[in-house]
Order: sequence, then C-alpha cells, then structure tokens
Amino acid sequence: MTRIFRGDPARSPLLRDGMRYVEPPELDAFGTPEWLRLREQRRVFDAEQQAAHVLRVLEASAADPSFGYQVNNFRHCVQAATAALQDGRDEEYVVVALLHDIGFTLCPTNHGPFAAALLGPYVSDASRWLLEHHQHFLAHHCHDHPDEAFDEHARERWRGHPHFAATADFVARFDQGTILPGLPEAPLAVFAPMVQRLFARPPRRLPPREA
Ligand SMILES: [Fe+2]
Ligand SMILES: [Fe+2]
Repeated sequence: MTRIFRGDPARSPLLRDGMRYVEPPELDAFGTPEWLRLREQRRVFDAEQQAAHVLRVLEASAADPSFGYQVNNFRHCVQAATAALQDGRDEEYVVVALLHDIGFTLCPTNHGPFAAALLGPYVSDASRWLLEHHQHFLAHHCHDHPDEAFDEHARERWRGHPHFAATADFVARFDQGTILPGLPEAPLAVFAPMVQRLFARPPRRLPPREA
C-alpha cells in the first residue's frame, strides 16, 4: 500500500496515487462532482481497507488482560475460529466464528448486533441472524447465574425460527467452551486471507433489523 503525501501536513494522506481530495469546506457546498469522486474513491478504499481495519481492531486486543476467564476475548475468538476450521466448516462460518465477539469489549451488552451490523452485508441471512442473537443463546449454557435480570431461557423466544438450531449448535460447539488455555489457536495470519475475501464480496443492502 502506498500512502501519498501531498505536501500539506494539515491533510491526511490519500490512500493511493490518482485519488484527489474534495475541496468544498462543508457538506452543504458539495455538488455532484464531489459526490461522484467520493463514491468512486470510497469503493476502492472500502474494498481494500475494511478487512485490514477489522483485523487491526481484532489484533489490537491480542494482549488484553482478562477480567476472569482464563483466556482473553481475542484468544476466545481465535479458539472459536480454529475449532470451526478444524471441524471443516466453510470460510464464511470460520470468519463468523472469528469475529462473533469482536464487539465484546467495545459494547458488551450489544456485541451480537454489533457483529451482525459489521458482517451482515457480506454474509448469509443465517450467519447474520446467528451473529445478532448468539449472546442470548449463550445464556442457555449459564446456570445458577446470580443476576436477577439474567434469563437462562432467553433463546426460547426464538424456538421454531429457521436459524434457531444452527445458532444453538454454534454456541454449544464453538462458543461456550472455547475459553481454555491449551485449546488450538491458529495464527491470525491463517484467517486474514479469509477475512479479506469476505469483505471483498459486494456488500448487499440489508432490510431493517428485526425487533
Ligand atoms: Fe458473544
Ligand atoms: Fe463468544
């Protein structure tokens, strides 16, 4: 990747040669030429940069401390993805496993919808639903929880949903148990090309989130 410095230290460098800044001082002053330029340059930027940024965010947490689990959230994510890979799951499933908790430390109480929003445009409806709801399915594996508001049976409200069984299976096999030292952890480099291929898919426009 080549970053071009254009001699004005007040400006951020552009991603690559041939890109140009838009100059109007505020959005109100932008016209069609500016929007066309941004649309084209953003298409190139997103295709090249989104996966790299996601991987940087994940990797930035590699050495994070744990609040009690024996491995931190990064290692949990890697263990889940490694287990899915070793189980012969397809590439999308492995990436879903790797990133299902990428929002866990950023917005813990809504980390499922966080991951669904991130990956939703690039994955199947089944994967998006799994990401969105997995945190409620995990409660099924949490017994004798002391919080009054905690609902061990939260997943039952979706019993019968077309994606219920697959989500329950993901949580049971690849989520609730991948929190131990000694479990296989493939290097992030193994997953990086998969993440890049997934985010290089043409993003689809999503329907509004379910209530
Ligand atoms: Fe989670
Ligand atoms: Fe998890």
